[in-house]
Amino acid sequence: MPNLLSRSVFNLFFGARRKALGNLPGPQPGILGTAGDFLGGSPAWDVCARYGREYGGVTLIWMLGNPALVLNDPVLIEQVLDSRRMEFEKGSVSEEIKPATTHHALFIAKQSEDWTAKRRADPFEQPWTGDWLAAQVGPMQAAISQSVEALAGGAPIELTPVLRRLTFDTFAVAAVGEKLPDSVFDDFMLLAKGADARIQAKLPLRFVSLPKGFEAARERFYGHFAERVRKARQAPNPEAADLLARTLRERPGINDEVLAHVIGHVFFGGVFSSSTTLVGAFHQLQKHPEAEQRLAAEAAGLAREKLTLERLRGARWIEAITYESLRLLPAVRIFTRTPSADVKLAGATLPAGSTIMISNQHLHRDPAHWPNPDTFEPTRWLDGGVARDPLGSGHFFPFGRGPRECVGAAFAMVFLRTALATIAARAKVHVDSTEPFEEGFFFGVVLPKGVTGRFVAR
Ligand code: HEM
Repeated sequence: MPNLLSRSVFNLFFGARRKALGNLPGPQPGILGTAGDFLGGSPAWDVCARYGREYGGVTLIWMLGNPALVLNDPVLIEQVLDSRRMEFEKGSVSEEIKPATTHHALFIAKQSEDWTAKRRADPFEQPWTGDWLAAQVGPMQAAISQSVEALAGGAPIELTPVLRRLTFDTFAVAAVGEKLPDSVFDDFMLLAKGADARIQAKLPLRFVSLPKGFEAARERFYGHFAERVRKARQAPNPEAADLLARTLRERPGINDEVLAHVIGHVFFGGVFSSSTTLVGAFHQLQKHPEAEQRLAAEAAGLAREKLTLERLRGARWIEAITYESLRLLPAVRIFTRTPSADVKLAGATLPAGSTIMISNQHLHRDPAHWPNPDTFEPTRWLDGGVARDPLGSGHFFPFGRGPRECVGAAFAMVFLRTALATIAARAKVHVDSTEPFEEGFFFGVVLPKGVTGRFVAR
């Protein structure tokens, strides 16, 4: 708690603002507001979860003299993300990631401008998307098998970068029909680093410089997909099942630049979050050997015949592990919104431009909702568990909630299940330590640090 002098100085300058926000609970602000809580070394999602435990569903905090709300109440979260969503925009994150993505990115589209049109046109939202997805299970399985074979010699590895590359390669197969050269992956990482520096900047963005070679990498990265679109137009392959080829067949009138950029954005949308989820899953499986053995048995059964989406969906243990990993260790733990005009929320008037932080960390582990909330228990998702807490519901929203929920969620779920089934059938992933790993933050996503282990062929 800030000392009396610090609290008095805050009240001297911002007392009137504070009064206008009524009786919302929250920590006492000092000279820096309450920003010190986020500068103390704990990850932001842990701070948000602590506020949930201490102050309940809504916490008023102060970034210097600017008020912000942290929401841990499913009803208020539903309002901001769903029923009253038109009153809020994504705010500063759009500017932060823009140099890495482009203005064609759905993620940063404004609700009041072109979000609806972009979402409707997105290849992941089409009547044929389910059909495309079903056609990806085989190619993704083959790509993952190949990567696992290369790893299964038992050499020590760091799981986060290894599973990130495996994810990137598998997404490439689904998006363009083949794995991509190292140079494209390197450009992707450089762009992500540039965006990350802006997302995590403590200074105004004009003072944050982009990494060396950023502009050239950006040109090459999007140019790579533009060239693929050009070639696919010139010599269409009617057999090709990948997203680029399928989109061109279904929507021949699509603008080439839009398509190239949408394909490029698939990697930014999901590589970090999907690979982080896999690292969390294998770390928990090492800690719970009975769950791992059950996974290996189910995966071996699936491997006996051709893997299809239908068979994958019937694999209930793999589904349960996927859900439990997304509950206990969600890769995206904080999303933000900003009211476009002064807005009434939780009984107070929040000024336009202020920040609303929404975290799933507390609700995913709320003891009033989940038995043994801190323990990895995939069994909770069997026998009706998935229907009790569906994706996007009050206490389970790893992909967000409402119409702006992750557009790639269905694809991510199929990728995660295919990866778990394929890896577990071919190798045992030994993780060196079952102690909780350090959680960093990269490109808006949790970054598991120092998780080492080995893939050992079965
Ligand atoms: C485990 C994997 C993933 C997780 C945990 C995840 C999480 C999320 C979350 C929480 C949101 C909502 C953010 C908000 O409301 O502010 C979101 C939105 C989004 N995600 Fe994902 N995501 C994953 C995979 C993917 C994949 C594979 C793609 C590929 C296209 C993708 C593309 C997007 C896009 C474009 C949006 C913005 C949607 C919109 O604004 O309409 N994500 N994701």
